[in-house]
Amino acid sequence: MNIQTESFLADPDKSVDLNASPDWAAVGKPSPHESAVLHVSGEANYTDDLPELQGTLHAALGLSQKAHANVRAMDLDRVRSAPGVVAVLTAKDIPGLNDCGPIIHDDPILADGLVQYVGQPLFMVVADSHDNARRAVRAAQVDYEELPAILTPEAARDAQSFVLPPMQLRRGDAQAALAAAPHVLRGTLNVGGQEQFYLEGQVAYAIPQEDRGMLVQCSTQHPSEMLHVVAHALGWSSHQVRVECRRMGGGFGGKESQSALWAAAAAIAAARLKRPVKLRADRDDDMIVTGKRHCFFYEYELGYDDDGRILGAKIEMVSRAGYSADLSGPVATRAVCHFDNAYYLSDVDIRALCGKTNTQSNTAFRGFGGPQGAIAIEYLIDDIARELGRDPLDIRKANFYGRNDAEGRNVTPYGQKVEDNVIHELVAELESSSAYRERRQATRAFNAASPVLKKGIAITPVKFGIAFNVSHLNQAGALVHVYVDGSVLVNHGGTEMGQGLNTKVMQVVAHELGVSLDRVRATATDTSKIANTSATAASTGADLNGKAAQNAARQVRERLALYASTRYGGAPEDVRFAGDRVHVNGEVHPFVEIVAQAYLARVQLWSDGFYATPDLHWDSKTMTGHPFSYYAYGAAVAEVLVDTLTGEWKLLQADGLYDAGNSLNPAIDIGQVEGAFIQGMGWLTTEELWWNSAGKLMTHAPSTYKIPAVSDCPEAFSMKLFKNSNVTDSIHRSKATGEPPLLLPFSVFFAIRDAVASVADYRVNPALRAPATGEAILDAVDAVRAAFGG
Ligand code: MTE
Ligand code: MOS
Repeated sequence: MNIQTESFLADPDKSVDLNASPDWAAVGKPSPHESAVLHVSGEANYTDDLPELQGTLHAALGLSQKAHANVRAMDLDRVRSAPGVVAVLTAKDIPGLNDCGPIIHDDPILADGLVQYVGQPLFMVVADSHDNARRAVRAAQVDYEELPAILTPEAARDAQSFVLPPMQLRRGDAQAALAAAPHVLRGTLNVGGQEQFYLEGQVAYAIPQEDRGMLVQCSTQHPSEMLHVVAHALGWSSHQVRVECRRMGGGFGGKESQSALWAAAAAIAAARLKRPVKLRADRDDDMIVTGKRHCFFYEYELGYDDDGRILGAKIEMVSRAGYSADLSGPVATRAVCHFDNAYYLSDVDIRALCGKTNTQSNTAFRGFGGPQGAIAIEYLIDDIARELGRDPLDIRKANFYGRNDAEGRNVTPYGQKVEDNVIHELVAELESSSAYRERRQATRAFNAASPVLKKGIAITPVKFGIAFNVSHLNQAGALVHVYVDGSVLVNHGGTEMGQGLNTKVMQVVAHELGVSLDRVRATATDTSKIANTSATAASTGADLNGKAAQNAARQVRERLALYASTRYGGAPEDVRFAGDRVHVNGEVHPFVEIVAQAYLARVQLWSDGFYATPDLHWDSKTMTGHPFSYYAYGAAVAEVLVDTLTGEWKLLQADGLYDAGNSLNPAIDIGQVEGAFIQGMGWLTTEELWWNSAGKLMTHAPSTYKIPAVSDCPEAFSMKLFKNSNVTDSIHRSKATGEPPLLLPFSVFFAIRDAVASVADYRVNPALRAPATGEAILDAVDAVRAAFGG
């Protein structure tokens, strides 16, 4: 070791050109994703790619065939004697807590006597191969006593069947405002759910360790929660369990709580059999077993004036929570806090109900209820515009939050003041750069001459609150190691699911130490490195972990600065780290040289870091407080062509502008905006979840569940970043990009609605449900024609 260090000192890194231009800033650059090459070459390891240890067994889950039933008897003898089967486990074989619910403990790992949806796991088979385990499962004979099932949010509301108490947010006097309003709209709306459709399905690989320990390799957004669930299921302490995840092949919210079932089941089998056990879901099972985005049913009353200004709003939203609470509470909270979207609502009464249904337990999905809250108000604004014969953009503008205190109208219904409002400028910029007004005129002209094919256009804004509503979740930790050769390793509590979090954190660390990005490497998320982490969710990954890693790197840098100034003179605060060099007292030394010297002087070259987002508070009873650290803004324009005879449509052009603050990495952020746009478009148009009358999800594979393909991306597709800097002291004054752009394709939905409205000369509000499938579009066209008397 000594010899190596000496040789380093004698031969400092030759690659460092001391005269190179100091263009070293690692943040703000469009660096490629740290795993981009591994992703495309197939070298990136996902959980199922990890080498299997000798003796590894494979598990499969036996699923309920009934939506709601008592299990009278389960005959598993033929399962036990099937080829390759090593063990068959039921609820009784769980040594600890039979629960994987993240907040409320109403979520059994294996059902015990009562099944509550088609697809609920009842038992587990462990066999010598994945195929043998899956085949054996089918030999089970289960005797059910069927019970009545509730399948829709409306039915849940009628039956007063809820997984949580109702939530209510009131400000002003909505009832009085409605009574006094010159115009009132009343109606209902249905917006469907969405399957996360991560490319890598749910998977966990549990490997027993010596002295009652368990390592679980798991595709999860929330390793700490996996640790809790596994420890509770085994009846162990947290320090006996270690959960690791290098990356996911997508999570999109579907691996925040829903990975727990798989982690727990694999660990229970591994602990019992003292052998490594892998549980990997087949795509159909994955879709049948796991929760999705909540579908919502809304009933509204809205009062407005002749200018289209909203005077009062009353809305009840009922979600399809599924059979257990899971994350339905936080999802409903975010829906309530995003009903305002970008609009000031003086007098509101928002009620949210989480309908208990005999379906999969719905969960997080990109936007976390925010999209479901905001689409409702956008629908209403679209209605107002048609009622008044105005351009919806003008109605939107008339209702935007005020720019500042002088203008007023800048406090949200939940009491947080909007202090960073850029929606006016951002929308104005997009309006002119996309030639929205001219193109809107052009669609009208086109439609007048085209009886069947109709064009539609819409521009919609987004305002999205960043931070977990629950304040204590807004914390993160990181570890930064600087090795004697000057290379840097960073570990943090966030998880990588393709969104580029590791890349951003590496950029922050490189920037802080003044070294080039290729000196920095990120390692797998590991509960034994950073404890008590929050889920990588609510778009907070870079905000939280970036700050924690910055804090860690800064401590190492400060120690190096102190060392350098002691050795070479000058004040520690004047030492500069840039371009792989250290500038101290007029001298320039390679970073590696200072590091190696500091090591010999016994300076600690690694550090932990921590961050807790300041100034957050939230009262869940009154639904008021300051839940968000800041808001991210955006807007998009979409133009579509709809065939009113077949319901087919095509997105002709989409232009978007998104406020990523001082973007940490514009390439990654634009990728996030584009991806979210297309994913959100899928939610609102082609992706339809359909359960049959017995409660079985029939759209459980890509053959019947249509996600957007490359060919659905418009030829003219331009997503740009809006020039801005975060008013809040976020990491390098950047803003989150993970979820908010999912709301940009509201523009696609409303462009389709605009095209449908043309059939009746824009005089009738089309009752268009989401997803706007071909069928839904034709239904809306028929209804509009009927109402128009045509
Ligand atoms: N991007 C990719 N490629 N894959 C994903 O699974 N998940 C989204 C978003 N972008 C996701 C993604 C969701 S739901 C969230 S909350 C954020 O990424 C989480 O990461 P961040 O907080 O680091 O942005
Ligand atoms: Mo994202 S839905 O918060 O994982």
